[in-house]
Amino acid sequence: MTLAAPPPIPRAAGSFPLLGHAVQLLRDNLGFVASLRRDYGPLVEITLQPGTRTVIVQDPELIRTMLVDLGPSLDKGRFFEKMGELLGDSVVTAAGQHHVRKRRQLQPAFARDEIARYVDIMRDEVTAHVDGWREGQTLDVRETMVGLSLDMLAKTVFSGSLDEGTFRRLREDLSVVMNGVGARVMLPDWVARLPLPHNRRFDRSRDAVRATVQRAVDELQASGHDTGDMLSLLLRARDETTGRPLTGHQICSEILTLAVAGTETTASVLSWTLYELARHPDVEARVLTELDEVLGDRPVTFEDVTRLPYLRRVIDEVLRLHHTGWLVTRRTVTETRLGRWTLPAGTELAYCQHALHRDPELFTDPLSFDPDRWLDSAQPPPSGAFLPFGAGKHRCIGDRFALTELITAIATITRRVRLDLGGRTVRPVAQATVRPRTLTMDVRLR
Ligand code: HEM
Repeated sequence: MTLAAPPPIPRAAGSFPLLGHAVQLLRDNLGFVASLRRDYGPLVEITLQPGTRTVIVQDPELIRTMLVDLGPSLDKGRFFEKMGELLGDSVVTAAGQHHVRKRRQLQPAFARDEIARYVDIMRDEVTAHVDGWREGQTLDVRETMVGLSLDMLAKTVFSGSLDEGTFRRLREDLSVVMNGVGARVMLPDWVARLPLPHNRRFDRSRDAVRATVQRAVDELQASGHDTGDMLSLLLRARDETTGRPLTGHQICSEILTLAVAGTETTASVLSWTLYELARHPDVEARVLTELDEVLGDRPVTFEDVTRLPYLRRVIDEVLRLHHTGWLVTRRTVTETRLGRWTLPAGTELAYCQHALHRDPELFTDPLSFDPDRWLDSAQPPPSGAFLPFGAGKHRCIGDRFALTELITAIATITRRVRLDLGGRTVRPVAQATVRPRTLTMDVRLR
């Protein structure tokens, strides 16, 4: 029996010569991608950059096939390639066997025992931030969470290797790189080459980070000390095939991309969690009761991360309703079969977690915030419908690290302060991640 040929992949309406779908994307990129799910089938083609075509994969089964079954044979696509050009070759940008080797080198830094050691650093950073907040102060929650996430990550990597002054300068430079990389990746290449002040600042800061990390690596190598931080671990990592350690340049590329992959994402989830707690006092009260029962008067520790099931459901629900993933890309290297379709080599592919997690066919009442939908007794979403950390060989290496940060930070913040949203309206914006455009709240000390 021969199967009927699949229907041709439709092209989304509203594309203009030269501009592609730029008008819709600039006007409301999240709304545009959500409309694709409503109006088209499992695959639909759009133009992200003039002259290129991207197939958006919309069906959960096909997304899984793309990430898991086809994962080893696909390139990571344009978005990640540009990141590699800007920050250097790393586990985030690599594909194929090269990626497998890089991932093995990094994995020990994210092992359970290491994360257990990082918790104290994370908690100290949160406490230091909250100590600075005053009763009645209007807090720029988004900016504060970006700073906090960067501090938690940077301290974990460098706590034993840099003196305080060098750390402060490095943190500022990392912050410039992180804030600039999203726009650089999205905009046409020639924009980044213009001699504009923010382009020069980006280049200067990236070079300064490289120089500082290289110095720290040289000093650690010369002293032979194990400082117990992530930098020391990376220095001990060996390439499986050659047995060689990572060079200072390679370590620096990994750290730059970890800062990008692990800061905006965590900061957005923290911001949305604080926003939802402010909007749902009943949920916040249940979180506080659970924290009182499990922690009593003591601060949160690594063992508590798995002992707070309600808080975990709250975070899962934020990862569903407000997922930070805007477009994750891949590219076919050879002619590739995806479901019933055969895609030529060089086809750009992408999927949008934010739209997937809000699909009414996959989640009941998808726009309502309901942590109890994740109770064991509730109906689980279909396979492939909930992918907070992706799937397959590129699944987030920092998933456990991120959950530990999120639980440590929310547990520490909510016990010290209540954040009051007042009547403010908050809108999402999709840039490097999907985040609140602005989010300010008033501090009420408990
Ligand atoms: C809540 C916070 C986070 C979310 C939602 C998140 C989400 C994701 C997702 C969906 C992917 C897969 C991308 C793909 O398929 O190409 C990914 C990859 C990655 N993430 Fe995360 N992430 C978070 C935090 C972190 C943190 C804290 C770190 C590191 C400290 C990190 C490091 C990475 C790295 C290195 C990769 C690439 C893995 C690979 O290709 O092998 N992430 N993340």
